[in-house]
Amino acid sequence: MITKIKGTRDFFDKEADKIREVEEIFINLFKSYSYKEIKTPTFEKTSLFQRGVGDGSDIVRKEMFSVISSANLIKYKEGNYDLEKNSMTLKPEGTAPVVRAFIENKLYALVKPIKVFYIDKYFRNERPQAGRYREFSQLGVEIFGSEDPYCDAEIIMILTKFLDTLKIKEYNVLINSIGCSKCRESYNKKLYDFLSQKKDNLCNDCNDRMNRNILRVIDCKNSNCKKTIEGYPKIIDNLCEDCNIHFTRFKSYLDKLNIDYKVDHSIVRGLDYYTKTAFEITTDLLGAQSAIAGGGRYDGLIKSLDGPDEPGVGFGAGFDRVVIAAEKSGFFNDEKQRNNIFFAYSSENEKLRCLEIINKLNQNNIVSELDLMNRSFKSALKYADKENYKYICLVGENELKNETITLRNLDSSTQSSLTLDELIVKLGDK
Ligand code: HAM
Repeated sequence: MITKIKGTRDFFDKEADKIREVEEIFINLFKSYSYKEIKTPTFEKTSLFQRGVGDGSDIVRKEMFSVISSANLIKYKEGNYDLEKNSMTLKPEGTAPVVRAFIENKLYALVKPIKVFYIDKYFRNERPQAGRYREFSQLGVEIFGSEDPYCDAEIIMILTKFLDTLKIKEYNVLINSIGCSKCRESYNKKLYDFLSQKKDNLCNDCNDRMNRNILRVIDCKNSNCKKTIEGYPKIIDNLCEDCNIHFTRFKSYLDKLNIDYKVDHSIVRGLDYYTKTAFEITTDLLGAQSAIAGGGRYDGLIKSLDGPDEPGVGFGAGFDRVVIAAEKSGFFNDEKQRNNIFFAYSSENEKLRCLEIINKLNQNNIVSELDLMNRSFKSALKYADKENYKYICLVGENELKNETITLRNLDSSTQSSLTLDELIVKLGDK
């Protein structure tokens, strides 16, 4: 038997319904705030992520799945294909593709701001565990074209409203500012000087990060590293005036919106494009994978991908984690809806009569289903009850002869004999 790939999942029935329900809530909510849907391809040129997310990030260095067509694989084996140059990658995140689409389709020419949302699948070669998958979904949002820190507050406000709708109450909004290229340059030097004295006590990853992406040393989960870096210089004490004003205003907007947040110096984000605002929403409902959403501002990204010098801000929420948290918060109601009308018959002639009735019901916009398994009346009744049909219509020899239908209400266990016209009236206002 061929089994699914490690870190991927199948969803059936109720599990798929939950996904659909959460998706609809997200879409309706963001549409009500004038966000427009954007869809991008499942795979992109690898260079988009190398340049967009950053060569030094864990995602690009270790976690991307790249693809090659079977024909090109043959060429590659024959030495006639430049794999590096033609490389394509299953998207590991949504911001770089959406920015690529924004530039390529000249969306920047539209009236600003441009507010978009997306729901998509992403792929990262991470070690699978509860809440962490190799194929996962994200609900994402981006605002292009405005530097106003209210954008940063607005997306958090709507995101918290989304979590509230899903009855998820236990969450923390953690915010930070990681400055811009101006303030980061001098800050990075300061941090490097501080950390280089403690190098020997830091893990190998941190030693590596010191030269690649020094900010990431701050969010190392290793308890020894955490202890070693205690007292490190904080970036919010080293912001330039512009970044400082941005952060102060951002916080004042969150205050006015009554959003309960905490400044957390360790929120530095793992993708290289962030500037100024960085935030995460975490919850204790999820165990080790506590980040339910992460995002921030990326004012230099569009320009660095050869677009205009437009600012951007957004977030990605882990759909799978949102669904788990909603489940644990008791959002999903197990009560199954009573659905349609089920038709059972005794033999072929009665079956044909059922089809005439079903056709008439269709013309009156009444949905009904015919037994597909040739069940006896007894087992059809049992089946319809178990599957939560509201009514069962029985057409046997007598009904065929008298041109009637026996209608049984499975809720009240009452039964009546009706003509087709009476049935239409009865079911039409059910
Ligand atoms: P990210 O922090 O890498 O940011 O991912 C956002 C969220 O996706 C995480 O907080 C987590 O809930 C979920 N997630 C990430 N990896 C996995 C995984 N392997 N399995 C399950 N869930 C996962 C980004 O991707 C940015 N593009 C977000 C953004 C949009 N920033 C600005 N705009």
